[in-house]
Amino acid sequence: MITIIDRRTGRQYDLKVAEGTIKAADLRQIKVDDTDFGLMSFDPGLTNTASCHSSITFIDGDKGILRYRGYPIEQLAEKSSYIEVIWLLLHGELPTAPQLQEVRAALAANSKTPAEVLQMIAALPASMYPMAALISATAALGAVYPDARAFSTPEQKTAHIYRIIAQMPALAAAIYRRTKGLNFVEPDPSLSFAGNFLRMMFKTDNETYTPNATLEKALDVLFMLHEDHEQNCSTSAVRNVASSGADLYSSMAGGVAALLGPLHGGANEAVLRMLHQIGTVENIPAFVEKVKSGEGRLMGFGHRVYKTFDPRAKIIKELAYQVFAVTGTNPYLDIAIKLEQIALADEYFIKRKLYPNVDFYSGLIYEAMGIPVEMFPLLFAIGRTPGWTSQWLEFENDPENKIVRPLQIYTGYDQRDVPAK
Ligand code: CMC
Repeated sequence: MITIIDRRTGRQYDLKVAEGTIKAADLRQIKVDDTDFGLMSFDPGLTNTASCHSSITFIDGDKGILRYRGYPIEQLAEKSSYIEVIWLLLHGELPTAPQLQEVRAALAANSKTPAEVLQMIAALPASMYPMAALISATAALGAVYPDARAFSTPEQKTAHIYRIIAQMPALAAAIYRRTKGLNFVEPDPSLSFAGNFLRMMFKTDNETYTPNATLEKALDVLFMLHEDHEQNCSTSAVRNVASSGADLYSSMAGGVAALLGPLHGGANEAVLRMLHQIGTVENIPAFVEKVKSGEGRLMGFGHRVYKTFDPRAKIIKELAYQVFAVTGTNPYLDIAIKLEQIALADEYFIKRKLYPNVDFYSGLIYEAMGIPVEMFPLLFAIGRTPGWTSQWLEFENDPENKIVRPLQIYTGYDQRDVPAK
């Protein structure tokens, strides 16, 4: 219980405290008089508002902890695979061998993209922005599948979830190939999830493509590290869209759209553009000074929740060296390392607790794999899809769920009359 004394009226209110929160709606009883709407909380960016109960992902931003269903991300990255984590996120436990087989079979059964969606991608110009195409393609799945808006039973929900997880790499690869004017490559479900994606991206005509095992493993870990991150901007967007009763495909299109921006999933692309722009190690100090004077941001640094190292960034930095052993080093690695060193020793970044996040090193790996920068956020989207769909499922099954409908503080005109003509 917490007691609030309203100094405006002298009245006292006892509000229940549970799970470290008060119910925002309990503030409404605090009024100056009967005509008063009641007290609201003002929280742009929802920096201090819990919008749901969730048992999927735990983050302690001060300690740099990330766990999926209780398992530390470091252990999962070492001992598990992306598709094992799909089951973990959806069901709460790591899969048994038959359950893992079930995931594989479901992904294989749904791996082929509907012809109409491929035609739509083919109709877009080669100069398209790939993330914009992914938003459209995700929504288009909901236009093509006749049962898209039937999702009341657990079986229907699961079917939609596997469909969309299986489709994401195929859509991303088709979009990439369209930008290069290449023929689309059919999926090969006998390969691993990451291996199949690499093949759909890079197979040339008449070639039997065999993915490089190190790159396949690295991509699997990267996808896994992106799988979920509790109530981030895109996951909140998925939940928001779903809250109106919209189907999963529309909700996912909302998630992809929210991911696109440079403050979120678009940051991996922005980091590489920034490193390209800096160009040489000698240019770093001047760039950092510009950032400190408010001219742009150090992309790939800072996080709403982490106030220390993002644990994913540490794993990705290690992974980068394994990938570069195969691909040759990325020439921008030296700039990234020096930039990190300088920023971590600088009072501006120390005071604001700005550390490298998941996007700081991931782009260097993607670029070394031959993936163009504008495709990077699509890889984030592929990785994040199991998280989005698990959060959607949790929302759908949540007895507390409600249409999301925030309030506002109105700052416009009071009533006025339309002038006579
Ligand atoms: N470079 C320079 N200054 C920064 C940065 C940065 N990357 N991030 C935050 N700041 C400063 C900001 O200017 C502010 O300073 P002051 O107090 O003097 O006004 C202070 O730090 C607090 O920043 P904020 O904007 O209030 O923090 P936020 O929690 O709203 O923003 C963020 C979080 C991730 C959007 C932000 O740190 C940022 O823009 N980072 C760069 C983009 C990026 O890397 N995004 C990927 C995030 S991780 C992947 C994901 O989950 O999407």
